[in-house]
Amino acid sequence: MNELIEVESLSKHFGSIHAVDNVSFAVKRGEVLGFLGPNGAGKSTTMRIITGYLPPTAGTARVCGQDIQTHPIEAKRRIGFLPEGAPLYGDMTVLAFLDFIARIRNLNGAQKKLRIEYSVARMGLEEVLYQRLETLSKGFKRRVGFAQSILHDPDVLILDEPTDGLDPNQKHHVRELIRELGVNKAIIISTHILEEVDAVCDRAVIIDRGRVVFDGSPIEFHAKSKHHNGVALRVTSATAAQVTKLLKGLPDVAAVEQTGTSAGHVSMIVVPRNGRFIADAVGTAIRQNNVVVDEIHTEAGKLDEVFRQITVGEERSALR
Ligand SMILES: Nc1ncnc2c1ncn2[C@@H]1O[C@H](COP(=O)(O)OP(=O)(O)OP(=O)(O)O)[C@@H](O)[C@H]1O
Ligand SMILES: [Mg+2]
Repeated sequence: MNELIEVESLSKHFGSIHAVDNVSFAVKRGEVLGFLGPNGAGKSTTMRIITGYLPPTAGTARVCGQDIQTHPIEAKRRIGFLPEGAPLYGDMTVLAFLDFIARIRNLNGAQKKLRIEYSVARMGLEEVLYQRLETLSKGFKRRVGFAQSILHDPDVLILDEPTDGLDPNQKHHVRELIRELGVNKAIIISTHILEEVDAVCDRAVIIDRGRVVFDGSPIEFHAKSKHHNGVALRVTSATAAQVTKLLKGLPDVAAVEQTGTSAGHVSMIVVPRNGRFIADAVGTAIRQNNVVVDEIHTEAGKLDEVFRQITVGEERSALR
């Protein structure tokens, strides 16, 4: 079976709040899905339903073909879950906690030892093994949470903001680990770090006010930006007006926007019509007119701009 996570028409209402509103998507083995959305969009609620911590108001979630509502034990066996926030049981040491989770996961003897050693090594927990959970720093708590989620080598990983609170080295390390694990698992990660979509995800789903507003590849995400395939240039202030006029006249150019000035130079971005590829035409026009350019590169498109464009989180919180 290819699709290890299947979410169909999922809804969750808390009184009058429609936290999740008719959400559907599927994640295949070998796929890392980035789950994005403004604060309060419904990401954690959806993840809690998929992992069986919350019942849905309507709809179904299946993990490895098992309905989490009707076959919770079979489904949960296949899931590793890193919930939002810190792990429980603050008075346990890291090792005691991992041992406890391993036993709940039916790991025993040599296999248990091996899996604990693996998770400890992968999350760099050697130095805190005998420290109580409540005394750990935020980042180490996250790392323990991640370690417990991979103990039983599950087919499905649901990771709610896995890199939240980690230092830059650990962020990099965890992203690499997610990429590596994603080769033969189905993984959902929620994140507010948009670069993570490019760094680790094969696909992104964006939800806003409980509804899916985007489902596509990172390239399709970038392509929604008006700057996608744009050409960024830096020229001297003396030539800026002439260059702007020249490039505005090209057939596939929608606009030339000034993005900054510094020390006698002007930075600008040439915006294409409908995301068309204009780098060749811009390059040719520059050469033919002997324009001196200090810097030139094509733009992939800014994800934060697309995110703002397709979500209304800011307006929503302002209205509350
Ligand atoms: N147990 C609950 N009771 C009442 N409302 C809830 C409950 N859990 C979540 N909500 C509400 O559901 C909505 C979605 O919350 P959720 O935690 O899923 O958002 P999120 O996308 O994970 O946000 P964040 O990015 O801040 O983590 C919010 O309006 C939240 O207040
Ligand atoms: Mg959340």
